[in-house]
Amino acid sequence: MGFDSIVTNGVIVTATEVLSLGIEIGIKDGKISCLGTSLPRDNDTEIIDAKGAYITPGGVDSHVHFAQDNSPTGDNFTTGSRSAIAGGTTTVIAFASQLRAEESVLPCIAEYHTRAKDLSYCDYGFHLILTNPSPSIMAKEMPQIMEDGITSIKLYMTYEPMKLGDAQVLDVLMASRALGFTTMVHAENSDIISLITDRLESAGHSSPYFHAISRPQIAENEATYRIISLAELTDTPILIVHMSSEVAMKHVRKAQTRMLPIHAETCPQYLFLLSDRLRGNNEDSFSGAKCVCSPPLRHDPKDLEAMWTGIANGTFTTFSSDHAPSTYDNPGGKKKGLVNGVMRYRDIPNGVPGVETRIPLLFNHAGPEKDARLSLPRFVQLTSTDPAKLYGLDGVKGSIAPGYDADLVIWYPESELAGGVEISQKMLHHGVDYTPFESMNVKNWPRWTYLRGKKIWDRDNGGVVGDMSDGKFLKRGKGKVVVGRMGNDATGMLPGERDYWQ
Ligand code: URP
Ligand code: ZN
Ligand code: ZN
Ligand code: ZN
Repeated sequence: MGFDSIVTNGVIVTATEVLSLGIEIGIKDGKISCLGTSLPRDNDTEIIDAKGAYITPGGVDSHVHFAQDNSPTGDNFTTGSRSAIAGGTTTVIAFASQLRAEESVLPCIAEYHTRAKDLSYCDYGFHLILTNPSPSIMAKEMPQIMEDGITSIKLYMTYEPMKLGDAQVLDVLMASRALGFTTMVHAENSDIISLITDRLESAGHSSPYFHAISRPQIAENEATYRIISLAELTDTPILIVHMSSEVAMKHVRKAQTRMLPIHAETCPQYLFLLSDRLRGNNEDSFSGAKCVCSPPLRHDPKDLEAMWTGIANGTFTTFSSDHAPSTYDNPGGKKKGLVNGVMRYRDIPNGVPGVETRIPLLFNHAGPEKDARLSLPRFVQLTSTDPAKLYGLDGVKGSIAPGYDADLVIWYPESELAGGVEISQKMLHHGVDYTPFESMNVKNWPRWTYLRGKKIWDRDNGGVVGDMSDGKFLKRGKGKVVVGRMGNDATGMLPGERDYWQ
């Protein structure tokens, strides 16, 4: 009859509220059944004492790469999800990645299911990376994939093995719109990058630092404006992933002001790290390879400030990790770019780890204090509520409200963690051998993480206390437009003009 457990004595934060101390959470069968004061207890109701600390919804990291073929030394579902829960993330959306030669995406999706099933500590879903959107896949397979709960796709405008041309992008956008997929786009101009890369190489500039020189902000700015235009033309909601450039972000902001359904994402690396990291250090001049990701780390502290503005003012809908690591000290990992002492940045696998540090790094700057960079509700929106909505998990994940899964992060009361936590590789749970956030200090860390009412992370008593069979595949619904709306007439079109051709 009663609750299985009651969380008491905490300050509950949602995307809209910071509730006063005294509101309790009643949990039954893994779901939040109510919020209220003085909830009735049975003899066997477990009481979880949050000790005056903040309680936030379990994190939703909507951009992680686990067990992908192109990062053989990176994380699999077990190491990646273990790292997720230790940092307060209870849901990840990873990628099933089509290889260009594949005529059907169904075997690929089945393969990624086997890579995750019973091997994940947290709940998970998949986005489908489309590298060969053939007419038969779009017409025959995509409706089935949507039915199976994979309701979002990712397209690349760069990377030779994955990129699509504008004609293909337009075809996919039209199909996405008709079927209701949420479309994620990696926006960088591929030809700009190739031109500079070839010239840098001819001039002998091939150390990791030149990765950042090869992908200037203008490559991101141009591709961002182009994809916004293609999305506007076709009236398709999109999310531009891992944004790092102020000009590109302003293109997004302007589109949002026109009520277009253009969403954007940024990641911890674009808030905290600069391109000087790519230069390495005296002991190891190649170690800059650890920070090779795309878009690259930018040069100026002003670039970081610009991303913070988008975090605070609502331009970004999601704050994801883009956890895409490779082991550093491994000839199949980052050291692919170092052969016989010769550095070649173009051979370094792109991406950094961050699934575990994402939430503590942003929480560090959230709060009611005057010098906080964002409010606590905005923190919850970015890390949990809005990614859940955008990717079709609303009502299930991303909030502390009746009917939602009881996925919770309980933090430390401030008095109990004096001095905060210094991030270090040795405290993390991922499978790779470094963190780009080494030595950074954060004021708090998830003390307990709950997945559907079960404690899976207990920082002081056992660490990871869940099992790798706890995580379930999330069959997602259609994503919701979080920003803007569909049905806007594109610039210069007559009202209803699209009806002639759509
Ligand atoms: O450098 C990155 N981000 N690599 C991961 C793949 C991607 O583009 O998201
Ligand atoms: Zn495949
Ligand atoms: Zn990308
Ligand atoms: Zn990525």
